[in-house]
Amino acid sequence: MDEKPLIELAEVTKVYSLPSGDVVALDRVSLTIMEGEFVAIMGPSGSGKSTLLNQLGCLDRPTSGDLSLLGRNTRDMNDRELTDLRLNTIGYIFQKFNLIPLLTAYENVEYPYLMKHRKTDDTGRVDSLLGLVGIDRVMASHTPPELSGGQQQRVAVARALINDPMLLLCDEPTGNLDSVNGHQIMEMLTELNRKGRTILMVTHDPEVAKYARRTIVMRDGRVT
Ligand SMILES: Nc1ncnc2c1ncn2[C@@H]1O[C@H](COP(=O)(O)OP(=O)(O)OP(=O)(O)O)[C@@H](O)[C@H]1O
Ligand SMILES: [Mg+2]
Repeated sequence: MDEKPLIELAEVTKVYSLPSGDVVALDRVSLTIMEGEFVAIMGPSGSGKSTLLNQLGCLDRPTSGDLSLLGRNTRDMNDRELTDLRLNTIGYIFQKFNLIPLLTAYENVEYPYLMKHRKTDDTGRVDSLLGLVGIDRVMASHTPPELSGGQQQRVAVARALINDPMLLLCDEPTGNLDSVNGHQIMEMLTELNRKGRTILMVTHDPEVAKYARRTIVMRDGRVT
């Protein structure tokens, strides 16, 4: 496989400033992720896993330190360039799904496609992805509040895949699924990784982490 660094973090620190004081959520994290890797991120609640994923996904900028994606330092990119990079290369499955409550499941999945292509999907890709995650046509016409947690999670998976991202970031992708559905999602992620997609996945579940080929453990904002 082509062994190129996809993401490089050098001494990345993220501080949240709160009225009660500063919270150092990431403390000088240095990390390299190669193209094609499948990495699990584990660690106790509050150790900085979601914060790390947000940095990797360029959803937020480091307080200090450097983050490079595809060889480009994100410090040298403006917000517009970062947004384009995100839209074209990254799929994100959020811990809390972040589906848009007023849109149907179908429209939620189509949304990043619209943002990228500036037109609705006439290729059937939305339908086929919804089929893949087991959301039928009736469910697809429901809005997220009308769906169960597991169904919302599967819609979020389909949405993350709509633009065929080379990098997939997943925050507890199976957290709200029973073991059968969780297994299906993990098989799907494994297959995507086999096809060359890079995957980083936060999980509390050692069984889920076994699907990954490398595990990173976080503690108190540091990679141990
Ligand atoms: N938006 C925010 N504003 C202020 N503090 C935050 C914010 N997001 C996270 N934190 C703090 O940063 C630290 C790391 O949080 P983070 O969400 O990254 O943990 P986590 O490892 O994902 O935990 P969990 O397993 O519970 O999801 C925590 O102390 C948290 O309270
Ligand atoms: Mg989290």
